[in-house]
Amino acid sequence: MKKIAKWAGSAACAVLLMASGSAMAEDDASIDQQVDALLAQMTLDEKVGQLTQFSDIGDVTGPAPDDALQARKVELIRSGAVGSMLNVIGLNEIRTIQDYAVENSRLKIPVIFGYDVVHGYRTSFPIPLAESASWDLDMIEASARVAAVEASAQGLNWTFAPMIDITRDARWGRVMEGAGEDTYLGTEIAVARVRGFQGTDLSAPDTIAATAKHFAAYGFAEAGREYNTVDIGTATLFNVVLPPFKAAIERANVRTVMNAFNVLNGIPATGNAFLQRDILKGDWGFDGFVVSDWASGLEMVNHGFAEDGRDAARLAMLAGSDMDMESYVYFDHIADLVENGEVPEALVDDAVRRILRVKFELGLFEDPYRYLDAEREAASLLTPEHLDTSRRMAERSIVLLKNEGDLLPLQPGETIALIGDLAADKDSPIGNWRGMGEANSAVSVVEGFEEAGLDFTYEQGAALQIGEAGFAQQVIVNTEDRSGFEAAVAAASAANKVVIVLGEDALQSGEGRSRTRLDFPGVQQELLEAVHAANPDTILVVMSGRPLVLTWADENVPSIVQAWHLGSESGHALTNVLTGAYNPSGKLPMSFPRALGQVPIYYNQLNTGRPNQIPDVFWSHYIDESNAPLYPFGYGLSYTDFAYSGLTVTPTADGAEISFTVANTGELAGEEVAQLYIRDLAASVARPIRELKGFKKISLAPGESGEVRFTLGPDELGFYNGHGKFLVEPGRFDVFVGGSSAAELTASFDLQPE
Ligand code: NOJ
Repeated sequence: MKKIAKWAGSAACAVLLMASGSAMAEDDASIDQQVDALLAQMTLDEKVGQLTQFSDIGDVTGPAPDDALQARKVELIRSGAVGSMLNVIGLNEIRTIQDYAVENSRLKIPVIFGYDVVHGYRTSFPIPLAESASWDLDMIEASARVAAVEASAQGLNWTFAPMIDITRDARWGRVMEGAGEDTYLGTEIAVARVRGFQGTDLSAPDTIAATAKHFAAYGFAEAGREYNTVDIGTATLFNVVLPPFKAAIERANVRTVMNAFNVLNGIPATGNAFLQRDILKGDWGFDGFVVSDWASGLEMVNHGFAEDGRDAARLAMLAGSDMDMESYVYFDHIADLVENGEVPEALVDDAVRRILRVKFELGLFEDPYRYLDAEREAASLLTPEHLDTSRRMAERSIVLLKNEGDLLPLQPGETIALIGDLAADKDSPIGNWRGMGEANSAVSVVEGFEEAGLDFTYEQGAALQIGEAGFAQQVIVNTEDRSGFEAAVAAASAANKVVIVLGEDALQSGEGRSRTRLDFPGVQQELLEAVHAANPDTILVVMSGRPLVLTWADENVPSIVQAWHLGSESGHALTNVLTGAYNPSGKLPMSFPRALGQVPIYYNQLNTGRPNQIPDVFWSHYIDESNAPLYPFGYGLSYTDFAYSGLTVTPTADGAEISFTVANTGELAGEEVAQLYIRDLAASVARPIRELKGFKKISLAPGESGEVRFTLGPDELGFYNGHGKFLVEPGRFDVFVGGSSAAELTASFDLQPE
């Protein structure tokens, strides 16, 4: 999204303001005292103001804001009726709004500014699903750190990220924004991302508050259709959906949680007291605040849960949704509801307290202008160091799916036909949810090849889309124009090897972008087949925001590279992988289906009662396709080979010690993600056939071996029952270790009763 200056107005000079007049101190008790002192001075209307978040107009990230209220925005902020804004970009714009709040409002409470800083801010990083393919927690944390440094340098205090929804359905457009299908991997990545954004000191000017979203189960939208109903069992909720949220709170102290658009088992998430009051604020003791999703309060009327906006405000507040994003239901109705005794003021006070606490923690009361520093802005955006971090992240996000006959890496002296619209595209690698990543600013593959001095010719072959779509518009795909095929085929025939880059435009995944097909949009598949027929030494590079069905390619094309949308440094990272300057190490964070009809497909499924192939038809299968994915979760190749051996499982009092050896048996140095899976063979709630419970990324020279050790204890061996009770049950566990969820090296142990 691009931002234009909308809030013209002179930047007032920075002043130090203390809301309560008391000395600023940073410890929790002192913050609580200051919050209480401030709360005691607030009128009901001022309290409602703290619960209200408006979007700036311009590049909004949801349905258009209310014009009449927007016209009164200045007056409202000056009166203390708006405590938070989103989508305000630019130091002057933020300073102008902050001035209204802290110079004109009675209690001078600063505004908190939020924005979707999802995978980089100005320096674009790989989309979150791609980063997750690195399984590199340090790099993922570093990526979020850079995003926070850049966003805070432009005055932002708060990101609506990370999205930590577990997602199993590649039709859903927002799979690009999460960590994929696995709860263990997703949990570790959630913690790394929150730590990256929030750093160790939230009041430092280069850290921002993070948001764990969407609470809860938005990733389970039926049929992968955006905003659709979610109906899942509570065992799935507790074991699959909730753990990343719990960890983001307990291990990373995430300061805000966003609820969700979806209905969960009949109750909209925004009006869901079970989720927000019982679990989040009750069982988990979350002391930050909950922000609604965009207008999700009012949408409860459409869900058939609230009668009208007033009822929606009542239900959302009773359920524990603290701040209303862009549905104005708190702004319009909370004061009246409190005055009529329909909402206890104590609940409003609790919500306000939570919001004020985070504002104090961010240091906004100490200095509401602390994030507004033009010098820091000039020094912090798109620096060479940030670009370098982005390139390293991008290299680690690429997954080598197939490499028959070692067609890759490209060899010096080879001539290459580089084909495909996406090969020259400088925009799609920036991905969706691009923050302030500039349009057309990525290094393309063409540019990467040029800089590396490769001997290549480029042919587009076919345009991917007709015209250019904006953030809120549909991409119109080229389904007819094949006029470039001939030149592409000629280039392919004349070259030693073909590199063809196909896939999705940046705006074919993301919010509001569900698909019913997981193929290459438009005429790209035909182009692939034509080019491959002309030169079978074809390397397919797939840029996409989701797993696509690559079955034809897998059967026909010798080498396949999954490249997602890789950010600013896309072309450099891809060139390095294709030439072998970087040996690929990515592993899939989602299963890739063989056929669309297998979706949702995920590795950690429960067994059926009839899992085994028998001569007749009465077993769990498809009559026209295998059950297996094309590429399983955790899978990814390297230019070298790794062998696993020596699995030792030593039972302990409450689990087991696991050790094994990984050897680099090839001729190149490389990194491998060694993975540990378990299966609990019989439990009071049926457990998956495999569950990831540990991984380590190790670097090995050719011929080198390394020992990998894991400890399995109650946290790894236990599970939640359908009532949310954590149980650790004795009995037999299988252990599997290897380089994917199809790992074959296995052993067992018995967990003894306590
Ligand atoms: C709606 C999206 O669901 C949410 O993730 C995002 O943070 C808000 N819009 C604000 O842009």
